[in-house]
Amino acid sequence: MSKDGSISASVIKRLPRYYRFLGELENKKVERISSRELSELMKLTASQIRQDLNCFGGFGQQGYGYHVSELRKEIGKILGVDKRFRTILIGAGNLGKAIASHINFESRGCVLEAIFDANPKLTGETVGDLPIRPTDEIERFCLERKPVVAVLCIPKAATQEIADKLVELGIKAFWNFSHYDLSIDHDNIVVENVHLGDSLLTLTYGANNLTE
Ligand code: NAI
Repeated sequence: MSKDGSISASVIKRLPRYYRFLGELENKKVERISSRELSELMKLTASQIRQDLNCFGGFGQQGYGYHVSELRKEIGKILGVDKRFRTILIGAGNLGKAIASHINFESRGCVLEAIFDANPKLTGETVGDLPIRPTDEIERFCLERKPVVAVLCIPKAATQEIADKLVELGIKAFWNFSHYDLSIDHDNIVVENVHLGDSLLTLTYGANNLTE
């Protein structure tokens, strides 16, 4: 925890992983777990886990460990999964369609409400139960439904322009998959740039540094 009482970015980055592991434990009907057991499962040190979870008032009890579903619920609240942020997706190509159909938005606090694409040939096609809409409907949709999250699966060159327009239309959070590190010159806007290629490069580094 930092001096002003806010949770450090590195702890926040680990929360989704805690949330996922605790969800798996919950599915297996595990009621409680010690920091040592959780550390073995998550390949973190027990003291790291205690430190992380202490940031939120320490859910563990001496000699009892952590109550799995309560801890998961609390972490979920911190993450905001109990919210229902209206979400739109721009770019219904290979990636956009895969994300729209395979990501469970609702379990992560977002509700995917509309998909847009600039290619008129895609208009009317559906992904799951959502029709692909033409991009000239974005403005009206945003004014009416007031989405706050946008998933960008469009080519690099189109990204900044679309993002600026979406900010004007009230979008506050971008899950950006285009190969462009989006930066927005506005306060109170969050951007999560995702590069699967960077993750692969981290793996390449690991492979490149394996001992013979
Ligand atoms: P794709 O070509 O299949 O789909 C792109 C879609 O965006 C097309 O349907 C196109 O009509 C639409 N589009 C283009 N400009 C638009 C605009 N201004 N407004 C609305 N729609 C627009 O490409 P794919 O494979 O789906 O990839 C999409 C983007 O994501 C590419 O830039 C690709 O490089 C990137 N990508 C990023 C990854 C990552 O890890 N961040 C992984 C894979 C792809």
